Amino acid sequence: MNLSKTASLYGIRSNGGFHGDVFTSPMVVRYMLDIVGYNVNSDLRNIRILEPSCGEGEFVIEIAHRLLHSAALYHFDANEAFQRNVRAYDIDERKIEHCRKRLTDIGISPSGKNLQVANFLKCKAEKTDIVVGNPPYIRYENIPKDMRDFCRCNYSTFHYRCDLYVPFFEKTLSLLSESGCHCFICSNRWLKNEYGKKLRHLIAKKYALKMIIDLEQSDAFQEEVLAYPSITVIKADKPSNKISYGEVRKVDELPNLQISKRDIPTDDDWTNIFSSISTNDTFKTIEQQGFKIGIGAATGADAVFVSCDLPEKVETELILPSINARDLRGNQFNWHGEYLLNPYNSDGTLVDLVNYPLANAYLEQHRERLSARHIARKSPAKWYKTIDRISPNLLTQPKILLPDMSGNTFVFVDDGLFYPLHNIYYITGRSSVQLRLLAAFLMSDFVRCQLSAVTNTMNGGFSRWQSQHLRKLRIPDLNAISEKDIQQILAFYECREISSINNKINELYG
Ligand SMILES: C[S@@+](CC[C@H](N)C(=O)[O-])C[C@H]1O[C@@H](n2cnc3c(N)ncnc32)[C@H](O)[C@@H]1O
Repeated sequence: MNLSKTASLYGIRSNGGFHGDVFTSPMVVRYMLDIVGYNVNSDLRNIRILEPSCGEGEFVIEIAHRLLHSAALYHFDANEAFQRNVRAYDIDERKIEHCRKRLTDIGISPSGKNLQVANFLKCKAEKTDIVVGNPPYIRYENIPKDMRDFCRCNYSTFHYRCDLYVPFFEKTLSLLSESGCHCFICSNRWLKNEYGKKLRHLIAKKYALKMIIDLEQSDAFQEEVLAYPSITVIKADKPSNKISYGEVRKVDELPNLQISKRDIPTDDDWTNIFSSISTNDTFKTIEQQGFKIGIGAATGADAVFVSCDLPEKVETELILPSINARDLRGNQFNWHGEYLLNPYNSDGTLVDLVNYPLANAYLEQHRERLSARHIARKSPAKWYKTIDRISPNLLTQPKILLPDMSGNTFVFVDDGLFYPLHNIYYITGRSSVQLRLLAAFLMSDFVRCQLSAVTNTMNGGFSRWQSQHLRKLRIPDLNAISEKDIQQILAFYECREISSINNKINELYG
């Protein structure tokens, strides 16, 4: 079998395709060329344009068509303009060959400078007025080690567990002419996560981010892939403080896209760009409304500290019924009967095991294992402490329980019977009724949409509950809701009628 170079470089995807080989649909290509101003009715004879990873030429062929059209309108030689101004690269010789053939078929004769078989990140490239394309998405673990090392040495944005498309941004941006314009369709993860931080920083400092179009739910590619794409437009201009934002579910909605203006955040966190709701009198964050967000206790040795048999093995005053994500799977509250051994006094100091002979005997059995934990190695005398301090009063507080990555649609409220473990985020504060009201909002599309905007969704489409995301959510001000509406929402919550909750929110907030 004659594998292409990208296949051998980055490996084969689970669907049989090659990592990094996803071609852009023609509608998206046309839209992107329109928004960068490479229009059929313009005089394109002197506009330099670059496609850094052209594949079989989805962009290049449309560029050639537009150039031919423009040449006919403005009377210039399309072949000569193409040779002078169009630059496209791909690491895969077969794709470049295919692209060359497609060009020849429409009357364009590309030179060796127009279509180059090269690793774009390593080659020397010329300045350009426009960059368009769809760079390869190659996850950190699939990038060959020598390429990772090269990127780390040569690209300042190659940070943390970076994807290969990030240095493609850095290099192509650096090639923009003074008023140049850059437009990629690419995974949107860099806009939200840690590995995109340095790229966001570079753009915030040196360029003007003009537009983001979120295509996360759409069919932007020629095959179905989990790519979370966005189109971004960046100009070689002074940084601006507003950007245009839009989202579409189908690519044929692109020409009639509704655009809104959003503030560009002043720090590294750009997730608010994706949230259409800002805090005001109607909407407030969870913490602004007097709730507290936390994560359950980590022990460093759940097999010792968490177990169903603890009531038979240690003193009753040292155990707390505990709950973990497994108990809340499939929208069911199904407690497996586990307890947490709490080695702390109420003032937060460690208990003296002399006073608890049963616990002493039990923990001594596991001493070797407990002492090997990092936390115990730091203070060997406290070898039986847990990573997080355990505060028994959390047990009796009513709390919302949010198991990370559960995919649940129902949000549980515990009335003060269980102690949450480390794979559960929890919200406490105010009253049990107010927590149920908040839980109803957390189940609604109103919150789920915000959540999928600020976090990267997991495969399967559900968003993760994590404290940094919970803190950003905007919730209707609970104090401003009438008693009648509260009772209605609570009734919908108890019956798990999410669609009625959604309707009520629409009725109240539009
Ligand atoms: C996502 S595809 C996009 C192809 C085309 N731009 C499109 O939108 O249809 C990415 C392309 O990048 C190419 N590629 C991967 N690594 C590359 C590299 N280091 N330099 C240049 N091209 C590369 C692959 O061969 C593949 O054709």
